[in-house]
Amino acid sequence: MLIEFKNVSVERDGLSVLRRVHLSLTQRRIGVLGPNGSGKSTFIRLLNGLLLPQEGQVLVQGLDTRKEVSRIRSKIGFVFQNPDNQIVFPVVSEDIDFGLKRREANPEVRADLARQALEQVGVPHLAERLVHTLSGGERQLVALAAVLAMQPEILVFDEPTTQLDLRLRNRFEKLLQGLPQPAIVVSHDLELLRGMERVLVLRDGLVVLDAQPNEAIAWYLEHCA
Ligand SMILES: Nc1ncnc2c1ncn2[C@@H]1O[C@H](COP(=O)(O)OP(=O)(O)OP(=O)(O)O)[C@@H](O)[C@H]1O
Ligand SMILES: [Mg+2]
Repeated sequence: MLIEFKNVSVERDGLSVLRRVHLSLTQRRIGVLGPNGSGKSTFIRLLNGLLLPQEGQVLVQGLDTRKEVSRIRSKIGFVFQNPDNQIVFPVVSEDIDFGLKRREANPEVRADLARQALEQVGVPHLAERLVHTLSGGERQLVALAAVLAMQPEILVFDEPTTQLDLRLRNRFEKLLQGLPQPAIVVSHDLELLRGMERVLVLRDGLVVLDAQPNEAIAWYLEHCA
């Protein structure tokens, strides 16, 4: 994976929410940590052009998010902080199928991909459930399955474990370890971040530390707790 941020700044409503971020992301597992409102979701939304910077440039494998949004979006699987922003169809299998239509014309192949993805996240029994009857954690897993089914080249997670109980959170951690794709994970789950190769710490829109997990977490506990 090669993602480059070149002097990127973002303003919302005249306020600076991300300031002069300049770095390259090349590791397989990258964590993003920081207090509420520090700019973490803003940072990762820049990756697939959900948000464009006022200043600077974001390049995903050399593609500029300003110019190549659709190519970039087909490479990046983005799991949102709130699964309700992601699930649009009333039935789980329909929702997963809808996303897959962009990449697979054969409905039987799509059904197989959807089944495999639901199995991968441990909820094959939810395939025909109405989305509004799912618990919060189940919804988070279905949103995850919908993204994995697309087999994207790069995965981006915004607080993937917030609604999961301990057992499912542990299962997510194992699943993440085994996924072949590079992943960028925003999380307040410090144990999850310990398994990363690199952790960026954001505060007030600045990357204040870019380090190994232990160092980053120790800094966060000392300065932001
Ligand atoms: N559309 C917007 N208009 C105004 N301010 C915004 C907008 N979007 C984000 N912000 C502000 O930008 C700052 C960073 O928001 P962001 O969602 O990136 O934070 P975060 O680190 O993901 O926080 P959390 O841990 O709570 O999810 C916040 O102060 C937020 O209120
Ligand atoms: Mg956020």
